[in-house]
Amino acid sequence: MEVNKIIFATGNEGKMKEIREIMHDISHKIKSLKEEGLEVHIEENGTTFEENAIIKAKTICEMTGEIVMADDSGLEVDYMDKQPGVYSARYLGEDTPYSIKNAAIIKNLENAKGDERSARFVCVIATAFPDGRILTSRGTIEGLIDYQERGENGFGYDPIFYVPEYSLTSAQLEPDVKNRISHRGKALRLMKEKLKNEGIDC
Ligand code: IMP
Repeated sequence: MEVNKIIFATGNEGKMKEIREIMHDISHKIKSLKEEGLEVHIEENGTTFEENAIIKAKTICEMTGEIVMADDSGLEVDYMDKQPGVYSARYLGEDTPYSIKNAAIIKNLENAKGDERSARFVCVIATAFPDGRILTSRGTIEGLIDYQERGENGFGYDPIFYVPEYSLTSAQLEPDVKNRISHRGKALRLMKEKLKNEGIDC
């Protein structure tokens, strides 16, 4: 089946930029909610990344009758019992600047040393089809919470997420490097594979 359009259900411009870069070969087929003139607020009341991604993709799919992809992602900090997790966007309040959220996480970890600072970004992509089918894929990247913010690239928690393999935070990585190794890059590439296996050409 040849697909001409996929709506990506996110209002986050930082994410949309990465999604377009990662899906560069089909980026002309990917439409944001904004491009589709859709302004919706979906209650993310799931308790897992999978549940939230499915809720978002299904809701917009049922509204539009189009194939819809959605992601749910977040930062799990082991020392904080895997918080903020699915609450990453809402941690300390939706409109609170990330400089404050990041400072709070660094403060929470003031007694954590070395591997006790372990954390990961998680991303789950869900694709909902008008016939009711749902596909999901998950990607993660392991790292450590840094002792201070570093770097200007990326968004959200990137300045405090230290990637040992590169000895840099994900906000210091070049965008193409981040996209190659990130949770979102991995989940999106896996989703492309799954779509291909379902005979969906995009
Ligand atoms: P949601 O998936 O829109 O519910 O929100 C995910 C939240 O997790 C974002 O608003 C960020 O706070 C955080 N997050 C997810 N992916 C990344 C990333 O690649 N870098 C930095 N923060 C991220």
